[in-house]
Amino acid sequence: MTFDVRPLSPGIGVEIVGVGISPLDDPGEVARLRAAWLDSGILLLRNLGEVTPAQFIAFARQFGEPEHHDQVQFTLDGYPTIALVSNIEREGRPIGATRAGRNWHSDSQYLRTPPSASLLYASVVPPDGGDTLFANTVAAHDALPAARQRALQSMRVTYSRVRAYARSHPDRPPLTAREIANLPDVSHPLVRTHPETGRRALYVGGVQHGPRVDGMDVQAGDALLDELRSHATRDAFAYRHRWRAGDLIMWDNRSTLHCATPFDESRFDRLMLRIQLAGTVPA
Ligand code: SIN
Repeated sequence: MTFDVRPLSPGIGVEIVGVGISPLDDPGEVARLRAAWLDSGILLLRNLGEVTPAQFIAFARQFGEPEHHDQVQFTLDGYPTIALVSNIEREGRPIGATRAGRNWHSDSQYLRTPPSASLLYASVVPPDGGDTLFANTVAAHDALPAARQRALQSMRVTYSRVRAYARSHPDRPPLTAREIANLPDVSHPLVRTHPETGRRALYVGGVQHGPRVDGMDVQAGDALLDELRSHATRDAFAYRHRWRAGDLIMWDNRSTLHCATPFDESRFDRLMLRIQLAGTVPA
């Protein structure tokens, strides 16, 4: 099979035309797809139609090992590696994570081993709003003056999901004692080196992950993270995805940030299926 690779924006992302949800037969083509993804940070497939959970998992497996989602209550029944992001309610309770990811972040930065990649498949989308924004943190790092890059290189950030949870997710039940015990604070480098490409990226935390810059007072550290996040998400490095049902995007958590945007939840439904692929400890 041959496919076309089309840029989504000058700064980030490619659309792949000619690949469906079925795994590719040719390992050479998988490698080509992976190379396009690593190079651009996000990969979009369109017009996939109805995708079953098994097809979604088989597609994801071409790129890594799907991991069990850390918040079991948001997973699809019988599929611990598929999480739902949705405002739809059944029996008075949301069927998935509501208002997930509405600040710029890389996924699960609060874990010692955050996922390498995340895949999001659009099953139901609102006619307006609910877009997802993406930004290229390698390009953002490369655009900084060399002296600034050097100054940032040895800095670290401690993440505390527990500290940030109640403020970030007032609409969700509080974390249980067991969840809290499974979420110790972790420290990661502020600039991480991509384990496959060797390129450096700004690893600036989402506020929902409770980041604090090690060795700095809280206000100064927050100001630094805000400044770097604003820099990394400038138009030159960013792309806004307007979802259509049947779209699938896979992003690289080691070289991008993303951010979900609101929509009118009183009038419209949105249902996204999500898989995360196992990663390595940021270096
Ligand atoms: C996420 O952060 O994974 C959710 C993105 C979205 O729903 O647009």
